[in-house]
Amino acid sequence: MDFVQQLKASVDIVRVVQDYVRLRKAGTRYTGLCPFHNEKTPSFSVNPALQFYYCHGCHAGGDVLTFLMQIEHLSFHEARNTLAERNGIPIPKRSEYADEDTKLRAALYQMHEIALEEFQSQLSSSQGAEARAYMAKRGLRRESVEHFGLGYAGKSLARTLEGKGFTRQQLEASGLVGHRDDGTYYDLFRNRLMFPIHNESGKTIAFGGRALDPNDKAKYINSPETPIYKKKTVLYNLHRAREAARQAGRLILVEGYMDVIGVYASGLKEVVATCGTALTREQVQTMKRHSSSVTLNFDPDSAGSNAAEKSIQLLLAESIRIHIVQLEGGLDPDEYCKVHGGEAYAECVTRAKTYFYWLADRARSKFDMKTAEGRVDAFQFLLPAVQGLTDKIERVAVANDVASYLNVTSGLVLENFRKLAADKRDQSVQQSPGRLSESDRILISVMLLDADARQQLIPSLKELSVIQQSPAGRIYEALFALDEAGAPIHYANLHDRLEDIERKALSATLLGGDSNDSSLTLEAALCCLDTLRSKERDGKASEIKARIRDAERAGNFQEALALMQLL
Ligand code: UTP
Ligand code: MN
Repeated sequence: MDFVQQLKASVDIVRVVQDYVRLRKAGTRYTGLCPFHNEKTPSFSVNPALQFYYCHGCHAGGDVLTFLMQIEHLSFHEARNTLAERNGIPIPKRSEYADEDTKLRAALYQMHEIALEEFQSQLSSSQGAEARAYMAKRGLRRESVEHFGLGYAGKSLARTLEGKGFTRQQLEASGLVGHRDDGTYYDLFRNRLMFPIHNESGKTIAFGGRALDPNDKAKYINSPETPIYKKKTVLYNLHRAREAARQAGRLILVEGYMDVIGVYASGLKEVVATCGTALTREQVQTMKRHSSSVTLNFDPDSAGSNAAEKSIQLLLAESIRIHIVQLEGGLDPDEYCKVHGGEAYAECVTRAKTYFYWLADRARSKFDMKTAEGRVDAFQFLLPAVQGLTDKIERVAVANDVASYLNVTSGLVLENFRKLAADKRDQSVQQSPGRLSESDRILISVMLLDADARQQLIPSLKELSVIQQSPAGRIYEALFALDEAGAPIHYANLHDRLEDIERKALSATLLGGDSNDSSLTLEAALCCLDTLRSKERDGKASEIKARIRDAERAGNFQEALALMQLL
């Protein structure tokens, strides 16, 4: 048996896959959501007898090494070594068939190992005194420091790495050192507290470095993208959190390295963070492999709330259940754990509300719910989050919940909100709908709201040809048709008679940010009617003028004179 066969024979594919995918036993196989494509019902399965995995959906399949290659984006060589290392199997000393990329990445992993050791030993050396004092002041316990591998960047790492014989190409690709014009190297991290960042298998692939001096311009410096550090896929602490996430049935997402450490130390180990970037779709997909439920606990400032809003959209798009923790006293997760202790924090996490209540609270504080205009804005703000739900029944239920939570129980705006919530926005054809003019908005709204007004307006409107040419033309037509048929006239009924493009225009207009429902009176509508009439006159006048010009050009002065009279 060669080494690879031996290796495969000594590990169980189910155990390896289980580190990355939630699997359930189904007869002789194990099934789960495929990690290689987005799906809601499991088409991925692992066959322990054959030591093979396969997805009916995307046809990904193979053995344990293929799986590691695919999930961790490794070359064959790296997958082999990773698997051997993890299982304590010695690797034969033949690396000559590694390709150039694999060799470079191997050098980068090695440099990060060296850096990690350097930083840790410098933290405990005399140079690390300031960093140790800082950590003590922040209440970082010794065991956390060790567990998270924190270190201190003091003495020159660039010199150490150069001394180890790494090539110029390797040094430049490492993200640990910079390169001067005169050919010398310098440290990218200086006088900073260092947080190692790991990939899912637990290898150090990058660092975040926190300034000790509060006057330092950059509070954190993070490693740049490198061949081993793809920021958009990495989550801080995931390799430690994933086990706990399975048990707890959730992942907690926080903003900072310090928050992760504080929350973890207080007993909730299922905590991860992004590393100084906004949450990405890839990170959400990664989280989804480990848990279908995410609890957000961002900082209680406006940056944190805005980031939470954006994250909600991304999480919803992957059908993840979302809860939002709100901590009292304007504390971030780390501070809260320090002040109130782990149990109190766990309590807040358990009590975390479903995201849309949090969003509705935000809407309430942002907009004045006593005015129609404020309600329009609030619904407009909430709509994307409701539409982000993949299940239609759930969207309708949530739309109703949100409305009653906001104390809005009737009206045009609510009706439109419900309708839009039910018709999930089709993301593939996201043409931005044209808005109707202000007078069309008022006229149509008033006719929908008030039957008497409708009877007064419809006959006059029918006489106007301008409305047929306007973007609202078909909406008026549909309204007239309903009226002639004696059918009930309300928003949903009208909506059903329209083509997609007009529906969008109508919705966008009625739920538009600058709408104002207090203007929806018969008086306002009559004013709009006047405006339309004068438009009609203007239109007719310019048509006549054009005909006069034509007549003059053709030398037909008789006709020109007659037309002038008409004008
Ligand atoms: P915070 O400023 O909230 O930092 O940024 P923190 O992690 O809570 O640390 P302390 O408690 O203030 O010391 C949250 C995260 O945003 C990224 C880091 O990943 C940080 O952990 N960040 C912040 C940067 O990348 N650069 C910065 O300059 C600031
Ligand atoms: Mn913070």
